[in-house]
Amino acid sequence: MIAPLDLSRFFEVHPVLETERLILRPITIADAEDVFEYGSDPEVTKYVVFLRHSSIEDSIKWLEKASDEFAKNAQMTFAITLKEEGKFIGSCGFHHFSPEHHRVEMGYVLNRKFWGMGFMTETVRELIRFAFDEMSMHRVQATCDLENVRSAQVMERCGMTLEGTLLDHELRRGKFVATKVYAILNRN
Ligand SMILES: CC(C)(COP(=O)(O)OP(=O)(O)OC[C@H]1O[C@@H](n2cnc3c(N)ncnc32)[C@H](O)[C@@H]1OP(=O)(O)O)[C@@H](O)C(=O)NCCC(=O)NCCS
Repeated sequence: MIAPLDLSRFFEVHPVLETERLILRPITIADAEDVFEYGSDPEVTKYVVFLRHSSIEDSIKWLEKASDEFAKNAQMTFAITLKEEGKFIGSCGFHHFSPEHHRVEMGYVLNRKFWGMGFMTETVRELIRFAFDEMSMHRVQATCDLENVRSAQVMERCGMTLEGTLLDHELRRGKFVATKVYAILNRN
């Protein structure tokens, strides 16, 4: 028998992760302006579940919800920040934790000014490493819109495999939409 994972220690103190160019740290309410910068961009929010932020209050609410979900051990959201300047450039994290099945889902979003520089690929590689090496997950998965080419490319660059299409998988702005599911397995 393989026991369910005990993830409690990861929710006692929010982890901080580091890559070559980035620090992934817990989000705070002080990040609201930076969240609004990408959350209000229609190009960035085109394929995500959350609605475009129309005021800074929407960004504050989003940050509060993310903190509440962390307190409930349901989500872990990181601010993606540049190591040198400390600039907040996006967010990422884990949700749909399934300790029984050693499985977790991942999500991410980047301010458009920072697209095209490999920051999300660097981030996702670290999330996968953390999920496998520290949380002892067996499977990390993520979904994206069929037209979200950039997101699909991030996952492919990180060694994730396209497993199929989930029909009417997300209810987005009142419409059911299909998503592609990608996953990577820990073979060690
Ligand atoms: C999905 C998203 C994060 C991808 O951003 P991205 O900038 O394309 O991805 P990366 O940060 O990994 O950068 C990859 C690009 O940088 C280039 N690059 C430069 N240096 C690099 C490096 N060291 N490593 C990898 N790529 C590098 C790649 O060639 C690629 O170039 P391209 O723009 O010509 O394809 C971004 O489009 C986004 O935030 N979209 C809106 C939110 C969203 O859809 N989230 C996902 C929901 S499923």
